[in-house]
Amino acid sequence: MSTKTSLRPPGPKGRLLVGNTVEYDRDRMGFLRRTSAEYGDVFSFDSRTIVVFEPDLVHELLARTNGDFSSESSAVATRFDAERSAEDAELWMAARRAGWRGLNRATAQAHAIRLGALFERTIEETLGQPVDVLAMMKSFSGRATADFCLGPDAGGMPEVIAENTAAIEPLSGSSQLFPAWLPSKRIARFRRARDHTLDSITARIRRRAAEPAPAEARDLLDVLLAVPGLSELQVQRLIRGILLAAFGVPAAAMTWTVWTLTTRPDLWDRVATEASQWDGASVPPLSALPQTEAVVKEVLRLWPPTWLMGRIALRPTTLGQWALQPEDQVMFSPYLIHRDPRWWTDPDEMHPERWLDPAMTPRRHSYLPFGAGPRVCVGTQLGMLQLTLATFWLARNYQVSAPAAARSGPEFHNLLVPTGFTASFQRSS
Ligand code: HEM
Repeated sequence: MSTKTSLRPPGPKGRLLVGNTVEYDRDRMGFLRRTSAEYGDVFSFDSRTIVVFEPDLVHELLARTNGDFSSESSAVATRFDAERSAEDAELWMAARRAGWRGLNRATAQAHAIRLGALFERTIEETLGQPVDVLAMMKSFSGRATADFCLGPDAGGMPEVIAENTAAIEPLSGSSQLFPAWLPSKRIARFRRARDHTLDSITARIRRRAAEPAPAEARDLLDVLLAVPGLSELQVQRLIRGILLAAFGVPAAAMTWTVWTLTTRPDLWDRVATEASQWDGASVPPLSALPQTEAVVKEVLRLWPPTWLMGRIALRPTTLGQWALQPEDQVMFSPYLIHRDPRWWTDPDEMHPERWLDPAMTPRRHSYLPFGAGPRVCVGTQLGMLQLTLATFWLARNYQVSAPAAARSGPEFHNLLVPTGFTASFQRSS
């Protein structure tokens, strides 16, 4: 490979005016697979977007986020302002670090105990009836994250976040960005939902700030309010960022876990046997659930909800041998990296064993369900905890029937989800 910096990688020309967008929207995964087979590990999607498949290059992109690249994207097209983006990232990172440091084991443990009750409540609401599993898991993760962030003040927040994400979805699900000034109902709804979320969070922050501080932090809000120098705006932004980021993604992962366990009875038995060693109301440490955790890791490899991610260049720069201008986008797909036979043995097969055998350690940079670098998912540990415990409680206390599960295929939309997956849940005797 030449070390000389080229201008742009090659790529398909596409159609006049619309470029590759129509073909891509018709079959997103098919398009990416075909194009990478033809053009290799880096190709141009259009004049401002390149797509990268090489794990080390993706890792470099992620590691250089906040410096040369921005991870911010907006549901509507706004004027890109690199300086503003850098300032926003600085405020966000300060709040993020404070939240991360303050979330000690005791806070996570207190949340985990409440999590069991939230999971049970969510399942019991529809016991015995066929339910849309993704909707059910969204309800669970909305409650779980609101509890984690706001503890006793979580009431009403899951509904506000559900409305906010529903208003974002039609805008961000499209390959085209809608200009913010467009007099559109969708944009007006998005703005209303965003403002309602901000007002709801601010009201809760002010109410809590007026109370005497508790001896022990109960939730993220207690943690953040105890950090000197953090502004109300920073606390509000971090809580909003977490509530939005932790709504659909863990729900999609949990839905894939239920789908996997109902289509693979052998794995259900394995997880249920491990779970049977604990009583149904326990909160075992993750170290006591290696089989369950391995299934969750493998689900996240095969079905990473954030199947496509990107960064925006903040300044003229290069990535590998490729030159980038400010506002150029670099996209990559954890899904395709996770299924690349160059990095994984039997990449399309579900083998939880690969996470239990040290000899099968994945190749460096080839496992990215939570991203990487300075903007790696802030909820990596919490997400693993929620998913593993929810799977444990499911296998310990319930039976699931999903006769049509094999008919739900993957949908590569905003998130990767199984289409129309329904199941009914029963308490096991
Ligand atoms: C299965 C569970 C989850 C998965 C697979 C997941 C995945 C991801 C991914 C891929 C990113 C983008 C990372 C990047 O750009 O490099 C992300 C960001 C984020 N996630 Fe998660 N996530 C999960 C659960 C959670 C939970 C429970 C929380 C709550 C604390 C959370 C909060 C966030 C936040 C706030 C960000 C933005 C971080 C930043 O830009 O600094 N996530 N997540």
